[in-house]
Formats: sequence, C-alpha cells, structure tokens
Amino acid sequence: MKPIRQLLTKFAFIVGLCVFYTAPAAAEPANTEAAPAVAAPANPEAAAAVAAPANADVAPAVAKPVNAAEAALKKEADLKSDARTKDQVCTRCHDESETKPILSLYQTKHGVRADSRAPNCQSCHGESDKHLHGDPSVKGRASPDVVFGTRRGTSGDFETKEAILQNTACLACHRTDSKRSHWEGSTHQRENVACVSCHTIHNGGHDKVREKLTQADVCFTCHKEQRTLINKPSHHPIPEGKMACSDCHNPHGSVGPKLMKRDTVNDTCYTCHMEKRGPFAHNHEPVDDDCTNCHNPHGTTAESMLKMRAPFLCNTCHTPHGAVSPSLAGQSAAAPYASPMNSGVAITQGRACANCHSEVHGSNNPGLTNSQFLFR
Ligand code: HEC
Ligand code: HEC
Ligand code: HEC
Ligand code: HEC
Ligand code: HEC
Ligand code: HEC
Ligand code: HEC
Ligand code: HEC
Ligand code: HEC
Ligand code: HEC
Repeated sequence: MKPIRQLLTKFAFIVGLCVFYTAPAAAEPANTEAAPAVAAPANPEAAAAVAAPANADVAPAVAKPVNAAEAALKKEADLKSDARTKDQVCTRCHDESETKPILSLYQTKHGVRADSRAPNCQSCHGESDKHLHGDPSVKGRASPDVVFGTRRGTSGDFETKEAILQNTACLACHRTDSKRSHWEGSTHQRENVACVSCHTIHNGGHDKVREKLTQADVCFTCHKEQRTLINKPSHHPIPEGKMACSDCHNPHGSVGPKLMKRDTVNDTCYTCHMEKRGPFAHNHEPVDDDCTNCHNPHGTTAESMLKMRAPFLCNTCHTPHGAVSPSLAGQSAAAPYASPMNSGVAITQGRACANCHSEVHGSNNPGLTNSQFLFR
C-alpha cells in the first residue's frame, strides 16, 4: 500500500470513529458517500459495539480498504449488522481450519454483512442450543437444530418432516420472492425436494444450479430421462451451455403446467420463438393448442426436435391424401386420383408433407386462395 493511502485510511478510521461518537451532531460529515450510512446507527447494539473496538475482527477490516469512504462504509456495515459478532458463536470452532469451505459463505450474498437482511449462522441452522452447550441425553456433540443436505433418500429427496424443517429455514426469508411465490403446492414441494437438493450455500459463490453450464447436471441427478433426451441429435443448446432448463421451467413452482415459466407451454416457447405466435390468416390447430403435439423440447432423433418424421408425424392425425392434382401424381387428368386406394397416396406419403405444406405453423399468404392448406 502506498504510504499516502495508508495515511488516508488511518485518517478515515479516526474520522469514522469521531463520527460515531458524535453521531447525532455529525449532521454534515465531509464525505457525502459515507454520510447516509453513518447517520443511521441510532442502533443501541451498534453503539455498544463501537464502545469496545478492541475487537480483533474490526481492525483488519479497516486496514485494507482502498479509500476513506469505503473504510467508513465497511466499518459501519460490520457494526450495524453485527451478524459477524453473532457468527462468532459458531465460527470460534468452525473456522479456517475446517476441511469444508464453511467461511466461503462470506464470498456470497448471504455473507454480505452490509446487508441487514442477510442471515447469520443461526438463521439457517437454528439456535442450536444443545450443539453449543451439550445435551446430557446425547453421547458426544448433539447436532445443530437444522442440518442440511444429509439423510437423503434414495430418490434424492427427503422425508416430509426433514424437508419441511430445512425449507422453513430458507423460506423464512425467501417466501415472498416473486419467483418462489408458487413453491407451496408445486411438484417439487409436494415431492419433498429440499432447497438444498439443488442449492449449495457454503460454496464461495459457485452454486452449480444457478450457472447455465452446470445447472442441468444438478437436475439430472433426479431426472435421468431428460439427460438421455438432451443428448439426442436435435436438442436445445443446453449441453453447449447456451441455454438452461430454467429458461423454460421455474423449479420453484409456477401457475403453468409442468413447472413452465409462463402460464402455458406455448407462452413459454413464444418468449424466444415469437414468429410462431402469429397471428396467422390460417392457423394450424395443433400449433395453437400445444407445441409439444409435434415437438419434444428436450430433444429427439428426428430433426427440428420433431417427435416423429413427417409424413408419419402428420399421419398420426391426418389420413394420407392421394395426389390431389393430376400433375402432382404425374397422371392424366382423367385418372381417378381422389380415391384413397390410388397410387397417389404412395406419392405424397413418400415425400415429406412439409415440402408442399411448408407453412405448418400457420399460413399468412393472402395472395393464395388455398392458403388454408398451409402452403407458402
Ligand atoms: C465448541 C465448538 C463448536 C461450536 C461452538 C459449534 N460447533 Fe458445530 N460442530 C462442532 C464439531 C466438533 C462438529 C462435528 C461433530 C460431529 O461430526 O459429530 C460440529 C458439526 C457441525 C455441523 C455438521 C453437523 C452434521 O451432523 O453434519 C453443523 C451444521 C454445525 N456444526 C453448525 C454449527 C453452528 C451453526 C454453530 C453455531 C450455532 C456451531 N456449529 C457451533 C463444534 C462446534
Ligand atoms: C435471514 C434471511 C435469509 C435466510 C434464512 C436465507 N437467505 Fe438466501 N438470501 C438472503 C438474502 C438477503 C439474499 C440476497 C438477496 C439479494 O441480494 O437480492 C439471499 C440470496 C440467496 C440466493 C441467491 C444468491 C446469489 O448469489 O444471488 C440463493 C440461491 C439463496 N439465497 C438461497 C437460500 C437457501 C437455499 C436458504 C436456506 C438454506 C436461504 N437462502 C436462507 C437471505 C436469506
Ligand atoms: C429443483 C431445483 C431447485 C430447488 C429445489 C430450489 N431451487 Fe432455487 N434456484 C434453482 C435454479 C435453477 C435457480 C436459477 C434460475 C432462476 O433464477 O430461476 C434458482 C435460483 C434461486 C435464487 C436466486 C435468486 C433469483 O433471482 O431467483 C434463490 C434466492 C433461490 N433459488 C431460493 C430457493 C429456495 C428458498 C428454495 C426452497 C424453497 C429453492 N430455491 C429451491 C433451482 C432450485
Ligand atoms: C443461508 C443458510 C446458511 C447459513 C447462513 C449458514 N449455513 Fe451452514 N449450511 C447450510 C447448508 C445448506 C449446508 C449444507 C452444505 C451446503 O449447502 O454448503 C450447511 C452446512 C454447514 C456445515 C456442515 C458442512 C459439512 O458438509 O459437513 C457446517 C459446519 C456449517 N454449515 C456451519 C455454518 C456456520 C459456522 C455458519 C455461519 C458462519 C453457517 N453454517 C451459516 C446453510 C447455511
Ligand atoms: C432431488 C431430486 C430432484 C432434483 C435435483 C430436481 N428434481 Fe425435478 N422433480 C423431482 C421429482 C421427485 C419430481 C416429480 C416426479 C417426476 O416427475 O419425476 C420432479 C418433477 C419435475 C418436473 C415436472 C413437474 C410436473 O408438474 O410434472 C419438472 C419440469 C422438473 N422436475 C424440473 C426440474 C429441473 C429443471 C431441475 C433442475 C433445476 C430439477 N427438476 C431438479 C425431483 C428433482
Ligand atoms: C425449451 C423448453 C424446455 C427446456 C429448455 C426444458 N424443458 Fe423440460 N419440459 C418442457 C415442456 C414443454 C414440458 C412438458 C411437455 C413434455 O413433457 O414434453 C417439459 C417437461 C419436463 C418434465 C416432466 C416430464 C413428464 O413426463 O412429466 C421434466 C422432469 C423436465 N421437463 C425436466 C427438464 C430438465 C431437467 C431440463 C434441463 C435439462 C428441461 N426440462 C429443459 C420444456 C422444456
Ligand atoms: C430461452 C429461449 C428459448 C425458449 C424459451 C425456447 N426455445 Fe426453442 N430454441 C432456442 C434456441 C436458442 C434454439 C437453437 C437455435 C439454433 O440452433 O439456431 C431453439 C431451437 C428450437 C427448434 C429447432 C431445432 C432445430 O433443430 O432446428 C425447435 C423446434 C424449438 N426450438 C422448439 C421450441 C419449443 C417447442 C419451445 C417451448 C416448449 C421452445 N423452443 C422454447 C431457444 C428457445
Ligand atoms: C403440427 C406439428 C407441429 C406443431 C404443433 C409445431 N410445430 Fe414446429 N415444426 C414442425 C415441423 C414439421 C417443423 C419442420 C419444418 C421444416 O422442416 O420446414 C417444425 C420446425 C420448427 C422450428 C424450426 C424451424 C423454424 O421454422 O424455425 C421451430 C423453432 C419450431 N418448429 C417451433 C415451434 C413452436 C414454438 C411451436 C408451438 C407454438 C411449434 N413449433 C409447433 C411441426 C410442428
Ligand atoms: C396433433 C394432430 C395433428 C398433427 C400431428 C398434424 N395436424 Fe394438420 N391439422 C390438425 C387439425 C386438428 C387440423 C384442422 C382440421 C380441420 O380444419 O379440418 C389440421 C389442419 C391441417 C391442414 C389444413 C386442412 C384444411 O382443410 O384446412 C393441413 C394442410 C395440415 N393440417 C397439414 C399437416 C401437416 C403437413 C402435418 C405434419 C407436419 C400435420 N398437419 C400434423 C391436426 C394435426
Ligand atoms: C406434392 C404436394 C403435397 C404433398 C407432398 C402433400 N400434400 Fe397435402 N395437399 C396438397 C394439395 C395441393 C392440397 C389441396 C387439395 C385441394 O386443393 O383440394 C392438399 C390438401 C391437404 C389437406 C386438406 C385436404 C384433406 O385432404 O383433408 C390435408 C389435411 C393434407 N393435405 C395433409 C397432407 C399430409 C398429412 C401430407 C403428408 C403425408 C401431405 N398433405 C402431403 C399437396 C400435397
């Protein structure tokens, strides 16, 4: 650190302290950035913490910051939330010496001590009185009130009671998030999937399920069928890391079917495939109904993620028609081409229906009298 910076930092530290001691009076401290943050702590707890800044934790925190404003802010933050102090109940044992990255929590949003909404150890693990002070009825150290991610059932989910206990801890803060407002009653909730079946918390900021490239692997621990499909030749670019399951699904629950992000399957598809929404002069009923009548969005062997190749796909709903015009059938006008037994069937069937009915998602061509037949 440059000496001048060091001086500045020290100065800031002193100013910071002065401001704290004279809190109500310091209406206009020189530094505007620090001002609002500092003006606040009418908090008696914070005051107490300031009174005794022989605190080893606070000092190194102040030594580092880059400028005066940051120093003041950081100090204020540490004191205001006083969550780190609370954490010490646990971190005096669960410290750097842990093999598991427990303290990497401080590199995540849960560890942002400036955020008064952020949890301390006990917000998630419970008060854990018996873990802290011993329980005569338990040999060795009793577990904390809430232990996450253990006792996992064979299917990857939890006993109902266990799931509720764990999820209640998370939902205490996350129930009101708009993205999780349909958790209650959702498929995953009903199946006793826990928040931490997908999320890791002591992760230093690498929550696999929230990263496009790694998300699917988390889902695949339980959803083997989708793993198979997504690796078929025609698929959404999920293995390539350009898309994620959560582009279509909200794993926390939704009003749509199958945890769809939007209210319907089609509305979800339209978020990216707008041109398929229309409006068209001539709709194709199964398209308006549900894209999955013809596509499997997870992947297929047939191209364009079609469940089957045309003509077989089309023939699941339509009776193959004969050559409807003599020229199509390569026959003379006199030939009885309309008959279902006619060789024209073979001609049209042998070709991809979409060669002629190319506007299979809906046709818009006003110039054609027969655009209802989904020609271009
Ligand atoms: C006096 C030291 C000490 C304190 C204080 C302490 N722990 Fe522990 N904790 C331990 C030890 C030792 C273990 C390992 C026990 C074992 O493996 O059975 C442990 C294990 C745990 C586990 C894993 C339990 C499991 O079953 O996998 C969690 C979670 C935990 N502690 C959380 C906390 C929390 C939260 C606090 C603060 C409320 C806390 N601990 C305070 C010593 C402590
Ligand atoms: C005491 C409140 C509290 C509790 C309890 C809590 N969280 Fe959070 N959580 C927060 C806050 C605050 C944020 C940051 C939100 C923001 O910045 O918008 C957050 C963020 C997150 C994020 C996003 C992190 C990021 O980097 O964007 C995830 C995932 C999350 N929490 C999951 C959980 C899970 C799972 C649990 C239970 C094991 C849990 N939370 C318990 C308050 C809490
Ligand atoms: C089936 C897997 C799964 C489960 C179970 C799950 N989540 Fe998530 N969560 C995700 C995925 C995927 C994302 C990232 C995509 C997104 O934002 O929807 C995410 C994102 C989040 C975020 C990030 C903030 C944001 O913008 O959405 C929070 C907070 C969160 N989850 C909390 C929870 C809580 C609380 C629970 C339990 C009630 C939970 N999650 C259960 C998969 C899951
Ligand atoms: C947001 C909720 C949350 C907070 C806050 C939290 N934990 Fe945890 N803790 C978990 C979850 C979930 C796990 C399971 C492993 C994981 O997801 O990383 C866990 C696991 C643990 C474990 C067991 C690790 C293992 O794998 O054996 C210990 C020990 C622990 N936490 C201690 C603490 C301490 C100490 C604090 C405070 C510094 C703390 N936790 C804060 C949610 C939380
Ligand atoms: C711990 C296991 C587990 C994990 C991890 C998991 N799920 Fe699930 N999921 C289930 C169970 C159990 C069901 C209900 C039975 C089924 O359909 O297989 C389910 C059902 C679903 C459904 C169908 C919903 C319905 O209403 O029929 C979707 C969609 C889904 N999960 C998406 C995801 C996504 C996306 C992820 C990853 C972000 C994920 N799941 C991760 C266990 C899990
Ligand atoms: C392009 C949109 C899209 C993407 C991306 C997507 N899904 Fe789906 N998913 C759907 C639709 C639509 C359905 C309902 C129709 C169906 O089952 O084909 C569905 C259904 C499901 C079901 C329920 C299947 C059943 O038989 O009930 C599961 C489980 C599922 N998806 C998991 C996943 C997983 C895991 C991923 C990521 C690898 C994923 N999905 C990615 C659109 C998508
Ligand atoms: C988040 C955006 C997004 C959503 C939502 C989405 N898609 Fe896609 N879709 C894509 C991308 C990206 C591609 C690949 C385009 C490419 O490779 O050029 C694609 C390609 C396709 C293809 C063509 C595949 C091929 O081989 O040519 C079909 C069919 C398709 N999507 C159907 C659907 C259906 C059905 C839904 C709704 C269940 C849906 N998509 C939802 C982004 C999305
Ligand atoms: C009646 C069956 C059917 C339905 C229903 C259907 N499609 Fe298709 N889709 C096809 C066929 C056939 C192709 C191949 C077209 C070709 O090869 O010219 C295709 C191709 C696609 C493609 C890739 C080529 C292109 O035109 O961009 C996308 C994207 C697509 N469909 C999206 C959707 C969406 C979104 C929906 C729902 C709104 C949907 N499809 C409903 C039959 C259907
Ligand atoms: C899931 C069932 C289903 C599938 C699959 C399907 N269709 Fe259709 N199609 C319909 C329905 C329903 C109508 C409306 C019938 C009507 O209006 O008499 C229709 C109408 C049509 C029409 C217009 C007929 C008219 O008289 O206006 C054409 C052309 C057509 N489909 C071609 C195709 C082609 C080509 C395929 C394959 C790519 C296909 N269809 C796949 C259900 C389907
Ligand atoms: C060589 C071009 C061609 C091919 C290939 C073709 N069609 Fe047609 N189709 C037509 C023409 C032309 C009409 C309009 C007939 C008329 O004007 O009465 C038609 C009409 C239709 C109709 C509406 C009338 C009816 O018979 O119900 C449907 C449905 C249809 N085709 C489905 C299909 C399907 C399914 C396939 C693939 C198995 C297919 N078509 C292949 C040219 C073709």
